[in-house]
Amino acid sequence: MKKIVLDTYQDVCCAAADIYAAQLKTKPNSVLGLATGSTPIGLYEELARRYEAKEIDFSKARSFNLDEYYPIEKSHQQSYDYFMHDNFFSKVNLSKHDIPNGEAKDAIAECKRYDEEIAAAGGIDLMLLGIGHNGHIGFNEPSVSYSMGTYLTELTESSITANARFFGKNEVQPTRALTMGIGEIFRSRQIVLIISGEGKAPIAKKLLEGVIHTDVPACFLLLHPNTTVFLDKAAASLC
Ligand code: PGA
Repeated sequence: MKKIVLDTYQDVCCAAADIYAAQLKTKPNSVLGLATGSTPIGLYEELARRYEAKEIDFSKARSFNLDEYYPIEKSHQQSYDYFMHDNFFSKVNLSKHDIPNGEAKDAIAECKRYDEEIAAAGGIDLMLLGIGHNGHIGFNEPSVSYSMGTYLTELTESSITANARFFGKNEVQPTRALTMGIGEIFRSRQIVLIISGEGKAPIAKKLLEGVIHTDVPACFLLLHPNTTVFLDKAAASLC
């Protein structure tokens, strides 16, 4: 795992955008893995800016998102489907995008469909990840066993609490999600992990001490041959 520490969150987003730009230049029809949460927002803004400036072109690419709450309506403002349209898809020319369907009647069938679509697309070339305070990637929560493919998972208290800030007082917050499994993420040919802010410093430290903690899902990335982790100074402050 390659570690790069930069001064600010903005620097991190620009450096990650450079990797996206290079990937699309080398392979315009790349398969991109995308993530939600507050961490990637600056990257999406930077990519949209570069698209406006005609520096990057997504027209031949396609994307698969990491996860989605379950169940949730796509029109719900906290669905990841809504998030992606709002923050990214409406701003660039990436027309082929897929997200686990939080409206699916049959969650198991939806997971199977998702894995089959990723396989048919040839697998993911470049995967974007954030990390949870508990070390989750996607919604792969700390556990004693990990799934390979996409699956329906129960969220931990830590993740529910971390995301409660996005939900209104009277809104029902989903406690389950459809997420790519650790195996699916690991099969990506290249991975970019972004860690930002002081709050993530403890989990960044744990990840980067180079020990595989089996209760920290992100630690599997230590074994991946082509992963770069970008941290701002605040996130790297305990490393
Ligand atoms: P955050 O979430 O960017 O909102 O902190 C990251 C994650 O949980 O993967």
